[in-house]
Amino acid sequence: PLPGAAAAPPPPPVNVAHRGASAYAPENTVAAFELAAAQRADMFELDVQETRDHRLVLMHDTTLVRTTDAESVFPGRAPWRVGDLTLAEIRRLDAGSWSGPQHRGEPVPTLGEALRAMEGSGLGLLLEIKAPRLYPGIERRVADELRRNPSWLRGGRLAVQSFDWGSMRRFHRIMPRVPVGLLGMPPVSRLAGLARFADQINPPYAGLTRDYVRHVHRHGMKVFAWTANGRSTMRRLVSHRVDGVITDRPDVLRTLIHAS
Ligand code: G3P
Ligand code: CA
Repeated sequence: PLPGAAAAPPPPPVNVAHRGASAYAPENTVAAFELAAAQRADMFELDVQETRDHRLVLMHDTTLVRTTDAESVFPGRAPWRVGDLTLAEIRRLDAGSWSGPQHRGEPVPTLGEALRAMEGSGLGLLLEIKAPRLYPGIERRVADELRRNPSWLRGGRLAVQSFDWGSMRRFHRIMPRVPVGLLGMPPVSRLAGLARFADQINPPYAGLTRDYVRHVHRHGMKVFAWTANGRSTMRRLVSHRVDGVITDRPDVLRTLIHAS
């Protein structure tokens, strides 16, 4: 820069709608993803698991109890694990009512349905493979579904993340051009090794420091921090220069980023 000129400000973080705009619409449903687009998030996040017949569906918990009416529809099927029911059974569930009567009847989407519903939205996707140990081979099935929807593989629109770093290593071998993110906060001493296959380190915001972000950046990786819903947390993450902020309230984050 010219002497006396101020350095260019860092770009604002990517605004990622966590399970969709999940503060206002039922998480991991197309309604929540569409609301994220209406609120002008940059990306949406979702959680992928597998049914008993190996179909990919969107659900955060490994059981269906919290976010569907599975207990009343299938009273004899405790503990209502996602992997114990077929897709046809899961499609009978209401995944909206728990979050408010206006969302009644919102179905549990398949991954394919979500990809197709959001294809034209312009949003990017942060796809989490949830509990992959329960679903051996899920990485390959996710890759197959992405190949059936190739627009998601173009233009840097997609990243895949998991708490299970072994799963991300496997996914990277299957689709080396798709960036992978590691959920959690590995010690700085491990970053060089993890950077051989990972592109993002995605930690909870508590305990995250500007110094840790610097270390991750030095290893050529990005930081997407979660789940920031309050303005002061959002501001702190912006000042730490994270690359992405994952939030249930993309409208609030957007206002904050554009006001600064
Ligand atoms: O994207 C980060 C975040 O989704 C990880 O936690 O439990 O909400 O899936 P969780
Ligand atoms: Ca998630």
